[in-house]
Amino acid sequence: MSNINLLATSGLTLDEGVSLLYLLAAVLFILGLKQLSSPKGARKGNTTAAVGMLIAIITSLTEIHPSSGKVILMIVAVIIGTVVGAISARTVKMTAMPQMVAAFNGVGGGAAALVSIEDYTRLVSSSHGIVLAISVVFAVVVGSLSFAGSAIAFAKLQELMTGVPITYVGQQVVNGIVLLGILALAVVLIGFTSSIALLAILLVISLILGIAFVLPIGGADMPVVISLLNAFTGLAVAGSGFALGNTVLIVGGTLVGASGTLLTKMMSDAMGRSLSNILFAAVGKVTVSSAGAVGVSQDQAVRSGTADDIGVLLAYSQRVIIVPGYGLAVAQAQHVVRELADLLEQRGVDVKYAIHPVAGRMPGHMNVLLAEADVKYDQLKEMDEINDEFKLADVALIVGANDVVNPAAKTDPGSPIYGMPILNAEDAKNIVFMKRSMRPGFAGIDNQLMFDPKTIMLFGDAKESLTKLVAAVKAS
Ligand code: TAP
Repeated sequence: MSNINLLATSGLTLDEGVSLLYLLAAVLFILGLKQLSSPKGARKGNTTAAVGMLIAIITSLTEIHPSSGKVILMIVAVIIGTVVGAISARTVKMTAMPQMVAAFNGVGGGAAALVSIEDYTRLVSSSHGIVLAISVVFAVVVGSLSFAGSAIAFAKLQELMTGVPITYVGQQVVNGIVLLGILALAVVLIGFTSSIALLAILLVISLILGIAFVLPIGGADMPVVISLLNAFTGLAVAGSGFALGNTVLIVGGTLVGASGTLLTKMMSDAMGRSLSNILFAAVGKVTVSSAGAVGVSQDQAVRSGTADDIGVLLAYSQRVIIVPGYGLAVAQAQHVVRELADLLEQRGVDVKYAIHPVAGRMPGHMNVLLAEADVKYDQLKEMDEINDEFKLADVALIVGANDVVNPAAKTDPGSPIYGMPILNAEDAKNIVFMKRSMRPGFAGIDNQLMFDPKTIMLFGDAKESLTKLVAAVKAS
C-alpha cells in the first residue's frame, strides 16, 4: 500500500502525515541526545537518533514528486553517504575520531551552503520575503565558514599541515575587515538586490574567513574549535530548513547548534580557559613554559622502576586510582587495563578510574574507550567526585595521561594550561607514571610531577607495560 493510501485510510492529508513523521523524528533526536548524556544510555541514544534520521530521510523523499527524477538522485546520494559513513565509522582509529568529526561536520556545513544557493536561485525568480532571504544568506555564510574551517581543522589534526598556530601581525584586523565585508554583502543581498554573482563572492569570502579563523588556533585546541564549528553547521542547517520550509531541518539544526554551543562551553571550562582565549590567544605557539624549556627537565633526575617492583606495590595496596589519558587510546590498552583492575579487585584492592573531562582528544574519549572494555560504569569517577580521594590512595596509576595531571596548571601562572582544573594525582602516596619517554603531552610543556620524589616512571608502550604488570601482580 502506498504512503498516500495509508494516509487516506487514516484520514490525514499528506502534509499532516509528513508533519507528524517529522515531529516523530524530532522527538527521537531529543530522546537520543538525552540518552547520549550518560555512558549507560549512549549506545541506545545513538540508535534512537539514527532511527529518527531514517524516518526523516524517508519522509523527505515522500515530499518530492515521484516524476521529478530527484527521488532517484536522492536515493543514490543516501546509498553513497551510508556506505562512506559506515565504512569510515567501522575503520577509523579511536585516536583519529576528532578529525573524522571535523570532516563530517565540514561536509554538513558545505551541504547546507549548497542547498541554500539552490534556494537562492529560486528566490531570484520570485518575490521573496525578507525572512527567507536572511535564512538563505545566513546558511550560505555560516555553512561555507564551517566547511572551510573544518577542512583546516582536519588538515591540522591529520598532520597534513602544521598544528602550530599560524599568526602574523595585524591578523585580527584583517579578519575583522573580512567579516565586515561579509556583513556588507549580506545586507546588500538581503535588502537591495538579488544577484547570483554577489552570492558567489559572498560564499568565497566566507570560505576565506573560515580558513583565516582556524589558522591561528593551535592543534591542542582543535576539539573545542570543531565543537564550535559543529554548532555553526547546526545553525546553517536550521537556516536552510527555514528557506525550504522543512521542520525537521529546523529542529535538527537547532539541536546541533544548541548542543554544540553547550559542549564548547563545557570544554573551555574544563580547560580553565575562556572561549576567546582559545580562539584568539594562539596558545601552542610558544611551547616553553615559564618554569623553563622542555629540555631543562633533562637535568633533573627521575626515578624509574620495573614492572615487577610496581606489580608488588599494586598487589599490596588498598586503594588504587587509575588515571587514563590519550596514551591509553594510542596503545589501545583499554582491555589490559581492565584485566589489571579486575586482578587487583580480586585481591581486595579498591580500584577506581579518575576521568578528566578533557583527557584524550575528544569529549568522553576515556568513557568510550573504557566502556569498550566493559569497565563497570560505577568505577568511572568524574574529576570533582574523585579529586579528594587521591590523598587516601596508595597508588595513582597514570596510564598515558600527562597534561591532565600537570601541577603547573595550579602553580605556574605563565603556563599555557594555568587555570585548567587537574586531577590531584600528586596527592597520592605513590605515583606510577606510565609513558614511553620524557616527552611532553599535547600542550607541549614539562610536567614536574615526573620529578616528584613519590613518582616512579614505568617507561614503555602502555599496553606492553600493563601486560607486564598483570604478570607481576599474578606472581605476587
Ligand atoms: P596528553 O597530555 O596529550 O599526554 C598523553 C601522553 O601519553 C603523552 O605524554 C605521551 O607520552 C603518552 N603516550 C602516547 N602514546 C603512548 C603509548 N603508546 N603508551 C604510553 N604512553 C603513551 O594527554 P592527556 O593527559 O589525556 O591530556 C589531554 C590533552 O588534550 C590536554 O592538553 C587537553 O587540554 C587537550 N584537549 C583535549 C580535549 C578533549 S575534549 N579531550 C579537547 C581539547 C584539548 P610519550 O610520548 O612519552 O609516550
